[in-house]
Amino acid sequence: MDANELKATAQAMIAQGKGILAADESFSTANKRFQQLGIPTTEEMRRAYREMLFTAPGINQFFSGVILFDETIRQSTKSGIPFPQLLTDAGILPGIKLDEGAKPLAKSPHELVTEGLDGLRDRITEYYKMGARFAKWRAVITIGQQIPSSRCIEANAHALARYAALCQDGGLVPIVEPEVLMDGDHTLERSFEVHQEVLNVVFEQLYRAGIDLDQMILKPSMVISGVDCPEQGSIEAVAKATVKCLLDAVPASVPGCAFLSGGQADETATAHLNAMNQIFAGELPWALTFSYGRALQQAAMQTWMGEDANVAAAQKALYHRAQCNSAAALGQYDSGMEK
Ligand code: G3H
Repeated sequence: MDANELKATAQAMIAQGKGILAADESFSTANKRFQQLGIPTTEEMRRAYREMLFTAPGINQFFSGVILFDETIRQSTKSGIPFPQLLTDAGILPGIKLDEGAKPLAKSPHELVTEGLDGLRDRITEYYKMGARFAKWRAVITIGQQIPSSRCIEANAHALARYAALCQDGGLVPIVEPEVLMDGDHTLERSFEVHQEVLNVVFEQLYRAGIDLDQMILKPSMVISGVDCPEQGSIEAVAKATVKCLLDAVPASVPGCAFLSGGQADETATAHLNAMNQIFAGELPWALTFSYGRALQQAAMQTWMGEDANVAAAQKALYHRAQCNSAAALGQYDSGMEK
């Protein structure tokens, strides 16, 4: 596959002040979020919701790419424009979620391993033809009593590396997403240790798989205290711990890190990204930006509620979060922007 095309795509994904909208929720995740708000869980509602997001005026100033789910990449606007074409025409790269979800890890009942490698080469060929230019695979690492185990970290890192190699062979830039969950009562220091171990094993596996590091994007979680930890790290502490961890583990040839939000409140996810870019301005070898799902969509979905009449207001809510996160990617966010 054309290395120059992959490099150019990776660079475009982390273009200055731009980030990625993760709109790749599977059926069950999308339906769960709809159910919580009383929105009907039909294919047409999922389509209408994604159309609302993707046609929001002006979002191409802030989004370099959008990650789609298999159902969504095959859907179109009400007027018949396929979503990948709609996005491409707006200068936004279509991406595709390639993993098939995290399943229980054998011999380790409290841990997960991500599946989806079977038949992946053919799926990549099909998605490339449909217009996808990058992909995502999420591995899930849980912190708890005696976990994560090295077995879990290695199995997930190995799968991430095999996925990334298949992507680069097939012309898609892989987003490599090892998510360390913020569930639990662990401290910031424990989160740091686990992130360090996970990122080191992931990059060892990427090396062994022959991955071209300048043709991929890392999608890490932030180093954060567990949600149930009585002592929560400050915005500055999270920013410093996260960047230290990345500097120690992520080679400079990786073009950028696009964070997941992982369940953080919208404004907190924005403030963390902003603090990293402000404190370390001019000192980082890679770009730091966002690839949020919930932290970009929550407000828009709660405004939309499945009603046509709310589309314009929901699009404004998405625009607002996108604009704040774009500013954070430049280290120029201020909480006054939320007013
Ligand atoms: O895999 C997870 C998504 O790509 C990011 O979602 O920002 O809601 O954690 P999140």
